[in-house]
This record gives sequence, C-alpha cells and structure tokens, in this order.
Amino acid sequence: MEQPALIIGGKGKTGSRVAERLQAKGKEILFVSRSTGFDWTDRGTWAAALQGASAAYITYYPDLAVKGAPDDIEALAKLAVSLGVRRLVLLSGRGEPEAQESERRLIASGADWTIVRASWFNQNFDEGQFAPMILEGEMALPVSRVREPFIDADDIADVAAAALTNPRHIGQLYEVTGPRLLTFAEAIGEIGRASGRQVKFHTIPNEAFVEELRAAEVPEDLAELLVELFTVVLDGRNEYLTDGVERALGRPPKDFAGYARDAAARGAWK
Ligand SMILES: NC(=O)c1ccc[n+]([C@@H]2O[C@H](COP(=O)([O-])OP(=O)(O)OC[C@H]3O[C@@H](n4cnc5c(N)ncnc54)[C@H](OP(=O)(O)O)[C@@H]3O)[C@@H](O)[C@H]2O)c1
Repeated sequence: MEQPALIIGGKGKTGSRVAERLQAKGKEILFVSRSTGFDWTDRGTWAAALQGASAAYITYYPDLAVKGAPDDIEALAKLAVSLGVRRLVLLSGRGEPEAQESERRLIASGADWTIVRASWFNQNFDEGQFAPMILEGEMALPVSRVREPFIDADDIADVAAAALTNPRHIGQLYEVTGPRLLTFAEAIGEIGRASGRQVKFHTIPNEAFVEELRAAEVPEDLAELLVELFTVVLDGRNEYLTDGVERALGRPPKDFAGYARDAAARGAWK
C-alpha cells in the first residue's frame, strides 16, 4: 500500500487545501499540528509525525521570518531524510532573510526538495488576521502606497499538490504571486465592491500599530513579527510579479477581484 503524505499545518490556509487536492487524487493523507501532538516548539514530537510518510508538505508556524526558523527547518529536513521521507515541499515567504536562509538549509539537507515561495495570501482577508478588521469596517495598518501581488491559497495549494505528486517538480523553486500589484487600500476596495460592505482604510504610524497590538493583548513575539512583516517586508522589496504559478501549472494565477467575488458569494464577510 502507498504510504501517506504528511501535511504539517494540515488545518491551515494552504495545508487544508493541499489535503483536499491530494485526497481528490485518492492519496492517503496524515495531518499534523499541535492538535495531533506535533509542535514546532518541541522537537521531541517530530519523529513520530514523520514516521511512515512518503512525502511532506511543510508549513512553518508562526512564520519563516522568525529567528529560529532556519534551524528548525534544517533539523526537520535532516530528520525527515534520515527517516526515509526524502520528498519535501516547503511553503516559504518572499523578501524575508530568515525564510531565504530556511530555503538554503532545506536544499542542503539532501532532500528531494521543492520550494513554493509565496507572496501575501488573499485569504488573510477572510480566513486570517485581517478578517476581524473587515467585519468591523475599518482597517488601520502601518502601510500606505506599497503594493503587494496577493496570491490565492488555492493557487499555492495547486502548486504544492502538483509538487508532491509529480517528480518533475523536484529541485524547483517556484516564486508564486498573483497577477496584479495592489495597495492595501485597493484590495479593501475590491472587497467592498464584491461584498457590499463599507470598509475604510487608514495608514497609521508604526508606534500606533504597536500600541494597538498591545491593547489587543497580542503576545510580544507575535507583535514583533507583525511589525517586522509590515515595516521590513513591506518596504517595496516585493513590489514585482513572478511567473511561478504559470511555470508550475501552465496557467495564470487567480486575480484578487475573483477571490473577493468568490469569498463574498460564500458569505465570508457576513
Ligand atoms: N499568510 C501569508 O500571507 C503568508 C505568505 C507567505 C508565506 N506564509 C507562510 O505560511 C506559513 C503559515 O502561515 P499562516 O499564517 O497562513 O498559517 P496557517 O497555515 O493558516 O495555519 C497555521 C497552522 O499551523 C498550526 N500551528 C500553529 N502553531 C503550531 C505549532 N507550534 N506547531 C505546529 N503547528 C502549529 C495550526 O494548527 P494547530 O492550531 O492545531 O496547531 C494550523 O494548522 C508560515 O510559515 C508563513 O511564513 C504565509
């Protein structure tokens, strides 16, 4: 019998979608996260999760941009290879020094690797940290004119599922973005048009953002990560489109307007 594919972060935005795609192809899946006893903060839990898997889709938490991420990815990849799980597909981020170092460590581990290096997800707006702001009708972030090529988690999952099932993707780094650069205000505008909700966007100074996070009792390390993502990563370095989806799948990525229409039709912002 074929051994199952492991999905680390299997209930997350991309992990759940990768699982759906593999199951639709009749593949056996193993989901792991804290709810099944796998914890990125406890290396003693990793071997049991990897045991008996044929391949693994790796989503790190909270983000590959955090300091310890490269060491964790290196340790997990080496452990996986030593247990015979050679086929590893890593979800990565753009313009983050620790994420790019994590990619290098994965490549050096001896795994049959594929990297899916993604821009910010569309789904942050309905399944992630921006959803409550949209429901409240007001989004206040320390960003103004910087544009991001938001990508759909369905596209990321299509690329990752293809990578896990077709050896032609071994040794490929797919940098994947949506087809259009949008400011946060423009993205909110698309969501407003699709959902019929009035959502205001304000640019706020960093200090005010830090204060808001403190007032919302966001844990210190998560608050630091968010500040880094908004200030360092969104400084314009990622303001370009890439052809990763087209190269991996032979079709263009989904546009943000299509995402907003579909999510609104599903009742995401009701
Ligand atoms: N969001 C973006 O725009 C974006 C863009 C590019 C790259 N990325 C990368 O995507 C990855 C995931 O980001 P996401 O925010 O979208 O999260 P996510 O995949 O939606 O969800 C997080 C998943 O991680 C699990 N998890 C949380 N803490 C964990 C821990 N200590 N150990 C093991 N599993 C844990 C959760 O399940 P349990 O609660 O059961 O543990 C859940 O399944 C990050 O590495 C990030 O660098 C994100």
